[in-house]
Amino acid sequence: MKINDVHYRSIALNDDGWSVRIFDQRKLPWELVFVHLETMEQAAKAISEMWTRGAPMIAATAAYGFCLALRKDTSDENLESAYQTLLATRPTAVNLRWALDEMKAATLEHEGQARIEAAYKRACEICDEDVEINRKIGENGLKILRKLSKEKNGEPINILTHCNAGWLATVDYGTITAPIYLAHDEGIKVHVWVGETRPRNQGASLTAYELSQHGVPHTVIADNAGGLLMERGEVDLCLVGTDRVTRNGDVCNKIGTYLKALAAKDNDVPFYIALPYPTIDYSMESGDMVPIEERSEQEVTRIAGMSDQGDVMEVQITQSRAYNPAFDVTPARLVSGYITERGVLEKVCDGDSDEPVYAEIAA
Ligand code: MRU
Repeated sequence: MKINDVHYRSIALNDDGWSVRIFDQRKLPWELVFVHLETMEQAAKAISEMWTRGAPMIAATAAYGFCLALRKDTSDENLESAYQTLLATRPTAVNLRWALDEMKAATLEHEGQARIEAAYKRACEICDEDVEINRKIGENGLKILRKLSKEKNGEPINILTHCNAGWLATVDYGTITAPIYLAHDEGIKVHVWVGETRPRNQGASLTAYELSQHGVPHTVIADNAGGLLMERGEVDLCLVGTDRVTRNGDVCNKIGTYLKALAAKDNDVPFYIALPYPTIDYSMESGDMVPIEERSEQEVTRIAGMSDQGDVMEVQITQSRAYNPAFDVTPARLVSGYITERGVLEKVCDGDSDEPVYAEIAA
């Protein structure tokens, strides 16, 4: 992803070879602020307070947080304590547990300096793998966008998205944005309806920022506008990310995704999920078992923005109490398909086996 024509990954090792650079996503789109993580505690805070966010980025940050913990103390006790601390930062995205399990498996057999080296090696691989996964999701999703463009005789395809499953939520490219960038770059006319995604506005602040940087035409809409646009035939495809897909294909994603899926079903709008394989939780049967994170009510009662004087500030929008579940579950029956790095799936698994059922995408 490029910002002002400079290529960045959302997370990277600094030149010292051990500290970690992320963006403070709370400051976007107003300011581009780099954060340098030097301790596991800082990495844990960056995840739980959402300086960084999005399932694959949570996983990547936790992987490096694990390295930072071992750098301080390579003992088994510290390894286990780092695993537990990082795991507790956010409950919903299964990628977090996946990455921590990977880190544990890569380091347990080593001791001392070799343990630190093994940790950094695996964390770097996790990041590189994520980039490759998103690139392939892009290629697989592009087939769907090409087909839609053909059906519309080259007229712009209108894609509705929710939250941010873009570059900032992954190490590079983004899950839903990878196919959009590829389509845009090859001359397919694309327009994105960006749902603002209250309460934290990841759509309005982050997805819109990313699409602007890549020059992709887009329009921010209030979350509640999605249904009307679908009724009017102004949405050709809904494309969202996910924090966890269960064996039966239920999709846990940012609160509000379910309402979009209901409106899509009622209006025959295809509803696709773009996800890396580590987001599929084969150990969980259905979506009602996914732990739904509840966040601070202040995320609902307050809102951040820039004043006419150019000051970034928060204001209060209600004096009442608020309730803030951060995710919801879209049942598999509302999902048209799952765009993964391995291909587009009709189902994430077939009966008792963990083998997916692939969808036919006509060229
Ligand atoms: O609470 P967030 O901002 O971390 O929620 C992020 C989402 O819901 C994304 O859609 C999901 O993590 C997929 S990111 C590729």
